Amino acid sequence: MVKSCVVTEPVPDPSPAHRRRPRYKGKHPRAFHETYKELAPERYPDEVEHVRARGMTPAGQHVPIMSGEVLAALAPKPGERGVDCTLGYGGHAQRILERLAPGGKLLALDVDPLELPKTQARLRKLGYGEDALLVKRTNFAALRAAVAEAGWSEGADFVFADLGVSSMQIDDPARGFSFKFDAALDMRMNPARGFSAAQWLERASLEDLVRAFDEGADEPQARRIAMALVARRGSLRTTRELADAVRAAMPPFVVEEEADRSTRRVFQAVRIEVNDEFGVLDTLLRALPECLRTGGRAALLTFHSGEDRRVKKSFEAGVRAGIYAECSAEVVRASMEEQRSNPRSSSAKLRWARRA
Ligand SMILES: C[S@@+](CC[C@H](N)C(=O)[O-])C[C@H]1O[C@@H](n2cnc3c(N)ncnc32)[C@H](O)[C@@H]1O
Repeated sequence: MVKSCVVTEPVPDPSPAHRRRPRYKGKHPRAFHETYKELAPERYPDEVEHVRARGMTPAGQHVPIMSGEVLAALAPKPGERGVDCTLGYGGHAQRILERLAPGGKLLALDVDPLELPKTQARLRKLGYGEDALLVKRTNFAALRAAVAEAGWSEGADFVFADLGVSSMQIDDPARGFSFKFDAALDMRMNPARGFSAAQWLERASLEDLVRAFDEGADEPQARRIAMALVARRGSLRTTRELADAVRAAMPPFVVEEEADRSTRRVFQAVRIEVNDEFGVLDTLLRALPECLRTGGRAALLTFHSGEDRRVKKSFEAGVRAGIYAECSAEVVRASMEEQRSNPRSSSAKLRWARRA
């Protein structure tokens, strides 16, 4: 039975009003606001296809990762009930919905108040009404409550999560996730809650920073960078300021590429802290068995060794305790072909488990 968890308020039409084409130098747009064709795929399908053929993700979109492997692990069937904990652009959800028809239902969660209405509108336009798709803006740490509100007292037939951030979030300069653009240092998946990255960096102790860079990014220069950031307190308000501070902290022998890798790792570690990504994953893993009916399948896609370790440990402990009947013996990786066509898939790791 559908209950109040469904987002029922009218969804704004995300298609932009007609405006003059932004002017940019050269053949291809560089800044996010210049990618107006990619941001309107229904009007410029050829342009979007062209961007994808170049192994890139069109602005404002997210290419679902390992979708064949995810479907094989979840095995959605007509009439079943499933949960997508991380709706994002809805790429996985759309493929799952195709398998659930007729009669099945997908409960889709996401914490992002900016992207969720756009994805919801897109999926509704494809014909998925509330009989097939329930959408709820919530953190997946509240999975138990979301499943209960949906009225699924016996649990779901499958639960899926594709962790981390979407390409839309990373590529939108206003979200402050990337050092590719200079912007306010925010990094919150839900910008209405909690502390921004700039606020977190201002408050975290030296030891908090060292732990975050170590655990959240396996950063070899963790202490050195942490000390440099503490020394620069008060001037870490933008993505560029943070990136410059990390680069300036590097020992003199470090080459440009290694400094770039450290910057990327520090940005990832800060994002993980700001969104409490390890904490909410632990909560999700604890809630999973209760949210799955007998024989129900769970599949989790992770992008970081700290996340994968947690999923592996939880699934294996679940098998030993008789909670899960089986789990993936090996981690499943994206094919070489997918890694070439979508480099964002190269760090992805998929694990699955089946409820006893
Ligand atoms: C990698 S994307 C998912 C992409 C999606 N599978 C697709 O095919 O488009 C991750 C999404 O999960 C959301 N997310 C991350 N952590 C979350 C959490 N704790 N609770 C709910 N949503 C979360 C992000 O806002 C983002 O939209």
